[in-house]
Amino acid sequence: MKSLILLTLVAAAVAVKSPRLKFVLHEVSRFHFHRPENYISMYHQEGGDTLYVGGRAMIYVLTFSNRGVRDLQIPVASDQTAIDTCKAKAAPLELECDNFITIIQKVNDTMIVCGTNAGSPRCWMLVNDTVTDVQGNFHISSASDISPAYPSQRAISIPAEGNLYSAMSSVSGHAGSIRRTFGSQKLLKTENVWLQNPQFAGAAVIPSAQKFKEEIYFFFSEFNKTARVDEEPYRARIGRICMVDEGGIRNLLADSWTTFMKARVMCGAGDTQQQYNNLRQAVVLTAKDRRAGVLYGLFSNAWGRTVICAYSIEDIDQAFSTSKLKGYSSPFIGTRPGMCVRKNLTAGSSNDIKNLGVIRYHPEIEDVIRAVGVAPLDLPTDDQITHTVADIVLAVNDEHYSVLYLGTEQGKVLKVLHTSEGVFIISQYSVFRNEGPVLNMAIDSQKGHLYVGTAMEVQRLPLADCGRYGDTCRECILSRDPYCGWDRAARRCIPIPPGYNITTGALLQNLDRSNSSVCGEAAALKQRRTSPKELSVPFNTSVFLPCPVHSFHATYRWEKDNCIRNYPCIFSGDFCVLGPAVDTPLKRGVYRCMATEDGYKVEVISFRLLNRCPLLSASLSSTVALSLLLAVTMLWLH
Ligand SMILES: *[C@@H]1O[C@H](CO)[C@@H](O)[C@H](O)[C@H]1NC(C)=O
Ligand SMILES: *[C@@H]1O[C@H](CO)[C@@H](O)[C@H](O)[C@H]1NC(C)=O
Ligand SMILES: *[C@@H]1O[C@H](CO)[C@@H](O)[C@H](O)[C@H]1NC(C)=O
Ligand SMILES: *[C@@H]1O[C@H](CO)[C@@H](O)[C@H](O)[C@H]1NC(C)=O
Ligand SMILES: *[C@@H]1O[C@H](CO)[C@@H](O)[C@H](O)[C@H]1NC(C)=O
Ligand SMILES: *[C@@H]1O[C@H](CO)[C@@H](O)[C@H](O)[C@H]1NC(C)=O
Ligand SMILES: *[C@@H]1O[C@H](CO)[C@@H](O)[C@H](O)[C@H]1NC(C)=O
Repeated sequence: MKSLILLTLVAAAVAVKSPRLKFVLHEVSRFHFHRPENYISMYHQEGGDTLYVGGRAMIYVLTFSNRGVRDLQIPVASDQTAIDTCKAKAAPLELECDNFITIIQKVNDTMIVCGTNAGSPRCWMLVNDTVTDVQGNFHISSASDISPAYPSQRAISIPAEGNLYSAMSSVSGHAGSIRRTFGSQKLLKTENVWLQNPQFAGAAVIPSAQKFKEEIYFFFSEFNKTARVDEEPYRARIGRICMVDEGGIRNLLADSWTTFMKARVMCGAGDTQQQYNNLRQAVVLTAKDRRAGVLYGLFSNAWGRTVICAYSIEDIDQAFSTSKLKGYSSPFIGTRPGMCVRKNLTAGSSNDIKNLGVIRYHPEIEDVIRAVGVAPLDLPTDDQITHTVADIVLAVNDEHYSVLYLGTEQGKVLKVLHTSEGVFIISQYSVFRNEGPVLNMAIDSQKGHLYVGTAMEVQRLPLADCGRYGDTCRECILSRDPYCGWDRAARRCIPIPPGYNITTGALLQNLDRSNSSVCGEAAALKQRRTSPKELSVPFNTSVFLPCPVHSFHATYRWEKDNCIRNYPCIFSGDFCVLGPAVDTPLKRGVYRCMATEDGYKVEVISFRLLNRCPLLSASLSSTVALSLLLAVTMLWLH
């Protein structure tokens, strides 16, 4: 016991970079896989309670409620011939000769499921919880354009306007591509020369007030195989296509995009060497009808360090519509090449055909896309980020705020507020029994849920978790959680109700800085005293006094007998301990633990230490007594 306590006694400086609050959750809404699922795909429709999880030869249909999770498991086996071929080929890993479900998507009302099928990808339709062969009256390209052959090869799929768009990463022998793979519109693809060993990281529909101007952005990294050892082989990219694109003419881009353009994306401190070039995952938050929003990219460098960079969608749009094209210096005649226009190329003018040639040979723009603030977000560095999702929240002041959820290597989830001022790490959730990396997440803004998956478990968390912040106005405001406000009438921290009328002023919130002056509790805080817990200890015995740490952004100190002496404290897990380092054994008196945050000092807990004659024999080690004491006080606190 003693060694355990002492081992965890690590002095920690208060860093604003750290999460302000740390929660350990024991939610009932969790599902355990019967065997580890090292690759999981997810599909969730906003507003529902069902999460589809694709695993190894299995689709898990998980229905969440407050009481728990109901699961339905739909087996989707590989064809035996595919398995035999796979094993005969001595595939990268024989273990991968199975049907990993890589894609689950809904196109119109059709659920499409694709899997690796032991190296020969196949797609199915999911109808009434049964998989059937794809049928119907629409175009579909080969399953290998939608699903990778091996689970480690990343593929992205995104449905839009009744079509499915798919991006396939390159592996040895396959170039990688961006395609329209399913739907009523013409199936199109990228030319191989446009992409250099792409590794896809995400895709997003970019809305527009004019329907025909809608685009899809694809996020990826390109890998230069012939780069020298001292050169960075990765380049982060954004590629875009117009949804109205119907391909080129008979001899030029007949089955290819006529609107594909790509740009280089930088993430790093200014123009320094410290760049993060490998884009691993990307999410976009946009307004529903306008081209405004933010792109968050998860990047890594050669040492595997991960960072997040944020980009303005307006900046990206501006670059694609105005930049020079790499290697092309002549002026454009008529419409700029690659722009989204409704046109009939079969009856096209010579200018349109000339533009096709320009795009075919010069799809890359010269402008480089740089991060907002020109540097990665200032996030903790002690754990690596493995997955990210984001949400846009309408706050009490009628402004929209971005919230990021970052899944980590150690199975934690960080909730981060991102404003023009920078980031504020609202909280850290420890959600899993087994600390495996977060593999996938899905967010439901409408219903307010976050789904988080590791190889062992899938869990659902509430986005508005306001009850955890405490029962004072100050605690609610200092949480800086855009989902939560202080209800002045009910005196509770509550989720902002849908359709909340801001002019009523019924809710308090302050997201832009940590300042709870809106509560008007300053005077009350100064006077708040806790009643000291009495502790009677044998004379000359070491005592550890624990103070529960709520906010990791506060500074904690111990005071004795109303400030006659000040003691620092030592962090041990979630306690700040007045311990063995100072002035031990402690003398009798009243010890108060004070937390300072937002300019106010608040008393957290106090102890009155009394001495009594030693009852225990001198031979009994005082360490037993002291650890017991600490244990007992910890029990009190819970
Ligand atoms: C699916 O189930 C519904 C209701 O049970 C039924 O009406 C429908 O015909 C089924 N569809 C198929 C394709 O079997
Ligand atoms: C999707 O729905 C639209 C309109 O309802 C229809 O025109 C289109 O053909 C459908 N696409 C598919 C792939 O079913
Ligand atoms: C890849 O790197 C080599 C060596 O630096 C360079 O010559 C080549 O141009 C690069 N390829 C591309 C497409 O950038
Ligand atoms: C495009 O123009 C050609 C020739 O005028 C015509 O035959 C074809 O139907 C048109 N296509 C569309 C989609 O309007
Ligand atoms: C909001 O509340 C104010 C008065 O408190 C009222 O005048 C106004 O009509 C309300 N607005 C809406 C949209 O309900
Ligand atoms: C208290 O303990 C210290 C160290 O264990 C010892 O040196 C000192 O004599 C003790 N004092 C009394 C009054 O027992
Ligand atoms: C909090 O805001 C109030 C009012 O805007 C201001 O007077 C006060 O100085 C701020 N407190 C801190 C600690 O910044």
